[in-house]
Amino acid sequence: MVALSLRPFPIYSKQAEFLQTDAWLTGFCGGRGTGKTYIGSYDIQMTAKRDEPWMCVSPDAGVVTETTLPTFIEVADTCGTLVRVVKSPYPRVYWRTRDRGIASIVFRSGEVPGKLRGPSKAGLWIDEASVVSREAFDIAIATLRYKGRMGPCKLTFTPRGRLHWTFEEFYEPVPDAPVIGNDGCTSDGLIYIQGRAYRAKADSHLVRAHTLDNPFLPDRFYELLRARYSTVLAEQELAGEFVDIAGLMFRREWFLSVDSAPRDARRVRYWDRASTPGSGKYSAGVLLAMDSRGLIYIEDVVRGQWSYHDRNRIMEQTAERDRRKYGGEVVVYTEQEGGSAGKEVSQQIVSLLAGHPIFVDIVGGKQSRKVDGQELPGDAKVIRAMPFEAQAEAGNVRIVRGPWNADYLDELTAFPEYTYSDQVDATSGAFNKLAKGRVYDGDTAATKQTVQPSSERFGVNFALERIRHRRANR
Ligand SMILES: Nc1ncnc2c1ncn2[C@@H]1O[C@H](COP(=O)(O)OP(=O)(O)OP(=O)(O)O)[C@@H](O)[C@H]1O
Ligand SMILES: [Mg+2]
Repeated sequence: MVALSLRPFPIYSKQAEFLQTDAWLTGFCGGRGTGKTYIGSYDIQMTAKRDEPWMCVSPDAGVVTETTLPTFIEVADTCGTLVRVVKSPYPRVYWRTRDRGIASIVFRSGEVPGKLRGPSKAGLWIDEASVVSREAFDIAIATLRYKGRMGPCKLTFTPRGRLHWTFEEFYEPVPDAPVIGNDGCTSDGLIYIQGRAYRAKADSHLVRAHTLDNPFLPDRFYELLRARYSTVLAEQELAGEFVDIAGLMFRREWFLSVDSAPRDARRVRYWDRASTPGSGKYSAGVLLAMDSRGLIYIEDVVRGQWSYHDRNRIMEQTAERDRRKYGGEVVVYTEQEGGSAGKEVSQQIVSLLAGHPIFVDIVGGKQSRKVDGQELPGDAKVIRAMPFEAQAEAGNVRIVRGPWNADYLDELTAFPEYTYSDQVDATSGAFNKLAKGRVYDGDTAATKQTVQPSSERFGVNFALERIRHRRANR
């Protein structure tokens, strides 16, 4: 048989290692932009055989349509093997296999694991596996029974610590292993992570990559991202290390996606404004809705690095758009940090939005902390986020599908170890107003709404300790 002639597809060493592994479970675990989705796509296109049906699971429909599916199509197109793309009922791509046949892959969201049950599959790929639930993984691998054979399973992901199922699927602890000083691999196949020894599980192979390993990234990609993460978060998000970060507050899986929020709900659009417009900081306006049962919907996010003038224009346009949609029921809040300059700007915004129900929320406390020379969200922001976090953890929060979802959830799940927190702050602000249950009564543009001041008792550590304690007692 004449092999299919493919256009050249460049890969780097770690990607080559992933392609060469033939264990049943193979993984590519790396920092952001390490080429996980690229190599997952390419690997499947090279592995699948004539007529085989494959399945790809991504965390939600947004990741399917914005990331995994387009990357898969791009890779097939680059290789010159793309045959056709079908959009419904689920996106499906057909491409020419190396044995000169045609294979297909269906793209599914892992949000509702039970829906993944279905016809037999010849192989499975889970992209962003560390954001997909173990239940979805368990149900998806049960479809691997095409023609009576258990086909391969491939996971591409950024690590989420040693307690996450993605770690447990690849490594088992070796309790009686000798203690060594440094993390890394030993000649007898032991892997040391944070001082503990592990061994790769049978029939599995995990390739690990650092963002800097990927030669295809633009020059400043790493630098730009590194400047935004704390040291510990950079270990996970860029170095691709399994670190156990206790301080992070939000988990992605708490936010179930929905198509829309109910019309009958109370609504607040809360603006967290960059203190110095044009400084590269973000302003964000988050629209939150709360229905009569107390379910909270993150309905819309408007966000940008704007000049003073543009920001005001966008705030005005957004208020107008909300009014047209909800007939003037959306209450607008704008955050004001202490100091007279802040007050002046807030008053200007109140005048600007005079035709709308606009209020000022005065916040106090420590807005930022410096760690390793880096500016991260301070105590006051962590404390303000706690009531919303409790609701999210209790499963009372939904996120309305939109192109802003990925950035929003990235910021939330990195909080408070990530420089930016404008979307988190705006969400906490909106939630705290809705939760008071009286967004209309008595608040005036001049009313003070001071949050808990920062003190020893209310430090970041205190807040995080409480969160840990609550989780441990579940
Ligand atoms: N083999 C490759 N050939 C050419 N370009 C590549 C290759 N692998 C990765 N890239 C480039 O690197 C970029 C990042 O790749 P990809 O999106 O697959 O990374 P990722 O690890 O999935 O990122 P994220 O963490 O955002 O999910 C791509 O936009 C692509 O331009
Ligand atoms: Mg990816």
